[in-house]
Amino acid sequence: MSRTPAYAAELRAALARAVRGVSERDLARATEALVSRYRSVSPAAAPILASPVHVAAYAAYRMPATHAALSRALGDVADRGLAPRSLLDLGGGTGAAAWAAAGAFESLERVTVLDQVEDALALGRELVRGSPSEVLARATFARAVAGDWPSLEADLVTVSYVLSELDEPSQDALVADAMHRGQAVVVAEPGTPDGYARVLRVRSTLIEAGWTILGPCPHASACPLAGSDWCHFAARINRSAEHRRLKGAELSYEDEKFSWVGAVRPGVVDSLAPQSGSGRILRHPLKRKGFVEFQVCRPDGTTGREVVSKKAGRRYRAARDAEWGDTLP
Ligand SMILES: C[S@@+](CC[C@H](N)C(=O)[O-])C[C@H]1O[C@@H](n2cnc3c(N)ncnc32)[C@H](O)[C@@H]1O
Repeated sequence: MSRTPAYAAELRAALARAVRGVSERDLARATEALVSRYRSVSPAAAPILASPVHVAAYAAYRMPATHAALSRALGDVADRGLAPRSLLDLGGGTGAAAWAAAGAFESLERVTVLDQVEDALALGRELVRGSPSEVLARATFARAVAGDWPSLEADLVTVSYVLSELDEPSQDALVADAMHRGQAVVVAEPGTPDGYARVLRVRSTLIEAGWTILGPCPHASACPLAGSDWCHFAARINRSAEHRRLKGAELSYEDEKFSWVGAVRPGVVDSLAPQSGSGRILRHPLKRKGFVEFQVCRPDGTTGREVVSKKAGRRYRAARDAEWGDTLP
């Protein structure tokens, strides 16, 4: 969880440059408005990113977090051997998933970000200008509204923190669109019970359509947490002084909680590695003297406690480094 995602520092520097001209008071006010809007979790009748200041505030206070979450999820599917050449990011806003994909996949050659808010796309373009990633610097940011996307296809389609802004029929339509256009799909949502519930619905849709789950689940059975708990992970983000001021926060870091699911369409899976390890770590491991205790989701579709003791040698050493969200060594 403390691993810093690729391009995190470059993104932060680009964000600092981009918001330099915006009054700190306006930024703080817009941040406050966005925080309370995102807390309410109801479909948006009009774009939430309603002005350039709202867009700047979103980018400054949310983008490092959504970038970190997507970096974890895409890093995981990269470890499974997914090597997309093209990325289509639906509802991509200022481009957090594009930055994460550029960091996760060396194979990437083409990035397209689509969103309904031109101001968000404009900021996205500004952020990637001069980026150290060539593919990111060449990314296309284009305006489009869900249901009326241009006819594009891609090896990987991402839908990152978008579903909560849509009613259920529109969520289903967006996921169907993503599946229609992509060889692989990754959907991420806030790591809250309702974010998890939306991800769970997407997971069912993917499985029913015969897609193979890439992560985080080590199986395609019913989620063993449904009804009693919610599956979510955490990505740690170091807060800059500016970020701390904006959020009125004191800690030098924050943990972004997120839920996600990734899958590939039938046929693609043959070229991918089977999921390694013996389960997904669902909580911070308890690192004790001589053993590490984990709560895991197992390949047989159950959850429970696993202990790796010092006697396990190499496996124990790997267990000491393992974190919430990793596969169990
Ligand atoms: C919370 S932001 C997430 C932005 C970005 N994907 C990220 O992870 O940081 C939600 C984005 O979805 C976009 N969005 C919401 N409804 C949309 C629609 N009907 N058509 C296109 N974009 C939409 C918004 O404009 C906004 O940029």
